[in-house]
Amino acid sequence: MSSFDFTTAPDRSASDSIKWRRYAGRDILPMWVADMDFAAPPPVLDALRRRIDHGVFGYADPWPSVLEAVVEGIARDHDWHIHPDWLVWLPGVVTGFNLAARAVGRPGSGVFTATPVYPPFLHAPAHSERRLVSVPLLRQQDRWEWDWPATEAAVADDVSLFMLCNPHNPVGRVFQRDELTRIAALAERHDLIICSDEIHCGLVLDPNTPHIPIASLDETVARRTITLMAPSKTWNIPALYCAFAIIPDHGLRNRYKRAMAGIVPHVNVLGLTATEAAYRDGDPWRQALLTTLRANARKTIDAIQALPGVRTTPVEATYLAWIDCAGLLQERGLDGPCAFFEAAGVGLSDGRDFGQPGFVRLNFGCPPARLEEALRRIRHAVMETG
Ligand SMILES: Cc1ncc(COP(=O)(O)O)c(C=O)c1O
Repeated sequence: MSSFDFTTAPDRSASDSIKWRRYAGRDILPMWVADMDFAAPPPVLDALRRRIDHGVFGYADPWPSVLEAVVEGIARDHDWHIHPDWLVWLPGVVTGFNLAARAVGRPGSGVFTATPVYPPFLHAPAHSERRLVSVPLLRQQDRWEWDWPATEAAVADDVSLFMLCNPHNPVGRVFQRDELTRIAALAERHDLIICSDEIHCGLVLDPNTPHIPIASLDETVARRTITLMAPSKTWNIPALYCAFAIIPDHGLRNRYKRAMAGIVPHVNVLGLTATEAAYRDGDPWRQALLTTLRANARKTIDAIQALPGVRTTPVEATYLAWIDCAGLLQERGLDGPCAFFEAAGVGLSDGRDFGQPGFVRLNFGCPPARLEEALRRIRHAVMETG
């Protein structure tokens, strides 16, 4: 029995929330930006209160017990035994992969990623005068898979960095050992650095599908990998801006740190405080959250699969469902799906931004009753004869 309440959530409608402010004053349920509507775990809130009561907010560096909590949490949850020296603290994961693009290769060299993908992946290469090289993932029956021949051909085109998103936003896959081993082999053959964004690794819904950090495969892979993690998605504290890169190779870590010099600030002390509490004491809350998210995922998939003109795939991780609206668009003669769903009272993310027009992303990180209302509105709009 869980003592945490995920059936209600604080009112965010008049708050600082980006997700809620877009639709302020309108009857549109915001299911877009990837944060959840739940309050942070009680141990995190208690730690923040204690730190605020101290009253002094001078410059801070990560202290030994933060390092210990992160190192032990990653060993406990992912069976990956990292050394504290490998950690590079960052104010965000987006900062982290933009730094990877800057640190690896030279102006003009290629940065590979598979689409659809979290939009800042698509913009990172240009921010560092690199070239985006992308290949679509393929939907095979009910599962998104790698197009291995196309990926192999693409990375041969003067690519120096392979940007991996695992677990994957937005398709919800948790890539398995055989897939990760193939990516690692490809990186070895083409001498690529891998930047693996694993921000969603605490949100694996399927108990039979473990998250495997690609750098944990073996030491050779670890030497060419920059892994990015953060407590922000799992424990719902993204606005505390605390993340870290794990870079086992000394030379690569130094290159990465040089790319940060003078522009990347220290992590703020409240972010570090929350991180320590989340990794050390946040697991009971996380387990209870996963029970809620599993049920929400099931409801979302069942509701969407029952409708004509839209389809989705099982969500192995994240609180995001990736929905193909091609049939609906064709039937209704619509340009894009977002305005259609907004008119029905549901605000979704547009697949176009992820490199896959005609899709939408639905965020089900909210109390079940709110999700049910959103799904009811979607059903009503789709079933209405056009
Ligand atoms: C795959 C992925 N990476 C990074 C981020 C954002 O990371 P941060 O807020 O730490 O920059 C998100 C947020 O949705 C995400 O889904």
